[in-house]
Amino acid sequence: MSKGAGRRVRWHPASVVLHWMTLLLILFQFWVAWPMTDETRDLLTRFELYQLHKSVGLTIAAFVVLRLVLRLVLRAPVPAPEHAGPWLRGGAGAVHAGLYLCVIALPLTGFLMVSSAPIQIPTFYFGWFAIPHAMSPDKAAYELMLRFHGWAGDLLIALGAAHFAAALVHVLVWRDGLLHRMWFGTSRGARLTRPSPVPQVPPP
Ligand code: HEM
Ligand code: HEM
Repeated sequence: MSKGAGRRVRWHPASVVLHWMTLLLILFQFWVAWPMTDETRDLLTRFELYQLHKSVGLTIAAFVVLRLVLRLVLRAPVPAPEHAGPWLRGGAGAVHAGLYLCVIALPLTGFLMVSSAPIQIPTFYFGWFAIPHAMSPDKAAYELMLRFHGWAGDLLIALGAAHFAAALVHVLVWRDGLLHRMWFGTSRGARLTRPSPVPQVPPP
């Protein structure tokens, strides 16, 4: 039986919603981090922006967990069309794994950072309820988490750029309809199971 037998040709609508919501929320996180850490702004505004950053970050964590559960239950669609050998597919898989890692590491290090901060500021989830912090103040742990949070953010930008560039190549060069896999609908799904338009070199 072929590897893709019985599998969908596109992502489940719930995974599609979570993928694009995550992108929007990540963009918001990078945008809000800028005024929130700007020490020339008044403290109350910064406090509110921090609360928003923390709440949205924890929401992203919940979305990622949900997405991984969905991926496990519903399975990923059939493999994407192959254009340049299995190494490229391996590269795409590594970038996807790295993206998942970043969107798990960012909320985790962020939460541990605020939990261990020498000056304790409570975390209110969108102002609805307080989230208990995971540990008591610890300056060394705080500084470590702060550094990891920054690195994970830099890595997310690098991997996100590679992922975006790859999506552009699929759309503009290979024109294989891959982007439609991460959108709603059924009719164009048929295109996605077509073999690669680039001739494959037969094995010697
Ligand atoms: C995917 C989710 C997240 C992203 C993309 C993200 C991104 C960022 C970025 C880009 C910065 C600025 C880094 C810098 O100035 O060096 C930052 C700072 C910060 N983040 Fe996050 N973050 C996320 C989740 C969280 C969560 C869940 C928390 C806490 C519950 C959190 C707490 C903080 C704090 C306290 C800072 C300020 C650090 C400082 O004092 O410079 N973040 N975040
Ligand atoms: C404009 C930006 C983006 C575009 C155009 C885009 C496009 C896509 C497309 C078309 C796929 C499906 C690939 C396939 O079917 O094989 C995909 C998968 C994926 N995207 Fe994005 N994406 C973007 C941003 C992001 C961001 C910011 C993240 C960070 C979390 C992300 C994480 C992922 C992951 C982890 C997968 C693989 C899903 C899996 O295998 O479970 N994407 N993306």
